Amino acid sequence: MITPTGSSAARLDQLIAQRQPGWSLPRDFYVAADLFELDLERIYRRHWLLAGPVCRLTQPGDYFTCEVGNDSLIFVREDSGEIRGFHNVCRHRGSRICLDAEGHTKRFVCPYHNWSYLLSGDLAHARHLPESVPTGDLGLHPFDVRVVAGLIFFCLAEQPPEFGTTAEDVDRFFSPHQLDRTRIARRTTEVIRANWKVVAENFWECYHCGPTHPEFCGVMSYAHAQNNTRLAAERVEFEHSWELETTARGGVSGTVPLAPPALHQGGRVPIRPGYLTQSRDGQPVAPLLGEATEYDGAVTSFMHYPLLWYLACNDHALLTRFTPKSPLETELELTWLVAETAVEGRDYNADEVAWLWSVTAAQDKSICENNQLGILSSRYQPGPYVTTESSVDGFVTWYLHELSRTS
Ligand code: FES
Ligand SMILES: [Fe+2]
Repeated sequence: MITPTGSSAARLDQLIAQRQPGWSLPRDFYVAADLFELDLERIYRRHWLLAGPVCRLTQPGDYFTCEVGNDSLIFVREDSGEIRGFHNVCRHRGSRICLDAEGHTKRFVCPYHNWSYLLSGDLAHARHLPESVPTGDLGLHPFDVRVVAGLIFFCLAEQPPEFGTTAEDVDRFFSPHQLDRTRIARRTTEVIRANWKVVAENFWECYHCGPTHPEFCGVMSYAHAQNNTRLAAERVEFEHSWELETTARGGVSGTVPLAPPALHQGGRVPIRPGYLTQSRDGQPVAPLLGEATEYDGAVTSFMHYPLLWYLACNDHALLTRFTPKSPLETELELTWLVAETAVEGRDYNADEVAWLWSVTAAQDKSICENNQLGILSSRYQPGPYVTTESSVDGFVTWYLHELSRTS
C-alpha cells in the first residue's frame, strides 16, 4: 500500500491545492515517482479497465497476460467457457507462473517448484506439501472480470465500482458489431515516452487534431470542422440528416454523455459524406462485421476514465490499451479486429485496415513525447485549457478527486 502518510500526505494535499481549476497540472503530477505509485493504487487498481477482445480466448485453456504496474494478470477461458482473471503470482513463494504473453494450457504450472493450478485457479498439486496445510485457500488470487459485447473488462479492486450502466451502454452500441465473432487483423505495442496523464489529456481533446492529424481530419469531418464556422454548420446538417435516416432504418445512433458515477461517454456518429468506413478513401477495407447487411457510414466510439478507448466501424474495430509503465512511460497496445471468417490477402489487407490509426497514433506518440519533454523543463508551468479542452479539464478534475479519495 502506497497510501501517503504524514509529510507525504501533506505534500499531496499541497500539490492538489496548487492546481488552478481550468489549468493543467503542476509538474510533479507528470514526473514524480511517488505520485506515479499513487496513480496506480488509486486510479488503475481502483477502476474498470479493458483487457482485450474475447477472440484472444476462443478455446478453454487459451490465456493471455497483461500488466498493471507491477501486477501481472492472467486472463483465461476455463473449462466451463467462462473467462476468468487471476493474479500471476504463485501461492507457494510468489513466483510469476505464466512467463509467456499468451498461450494454451490445461494447467498453470509454476516454473519454480512446479505447483500446478487448474484453469479455475484452484491449486491442483503441490509436491511435499504437508497434509496439515489446507489447499482449499491456496488457489490463485482472482479479480473481477466482465465480458460485454465481446470485450473483456476487469477491475483489481476488492469492491469494484458499479459497472452496470456502462455495461448496458457498451452492449447497446457494440453488440450489433458482434465483436465476439472477430479475429485479430493486427496487434501492435509500443512505448510512448510520456506520463500516462500527458497521454490521457491528449486523447481527451481534439484541439490538436487540426495541427497534428491531417489524415484523421481528412477522414472524420467533425475534426476538420472544429475551427471553421461554415464547415461546422455543414457538419451539424450532415449529422442531423444521417441521424434521421438511421433512426428511420432502425439503426444505432446517438451519443451518451459522461455522467458520473458512470465513467464512459460515446456514441455512433457518421464519418463524412461519401465515406463508408474509416479508410484512406472511405471504401470498405474488410467484410461487414456482425449484424450489418449494409454500410451506415458511421463509427461507434467509447472513451472511459481513466483512459479506455475503442471504436467500431461497419467492417473493422479497434481496441486500445494504455498501460502506465513508469512515471515517464506509457505502453500503448492497438488491436484491430475484422470478421472471424475474413482471410488476410483475400478479404482484407492489414495495412489498409490499420492505416488511419497507425498513422494517427504515431503522430500522437510524437506530440505526447514533445509535451513531456517541455514539462521536464525548468521553465514549465501549468497552462490554461481552452474552451474545446473542457473534457481535459473534466478528466483532470476527476483524477485529482480520485487521488485525494482514500477509500
Ligand atoms: S514459487 Fe511457485 S512452486 Fe514455488
Ligand atoms: Fe491525437
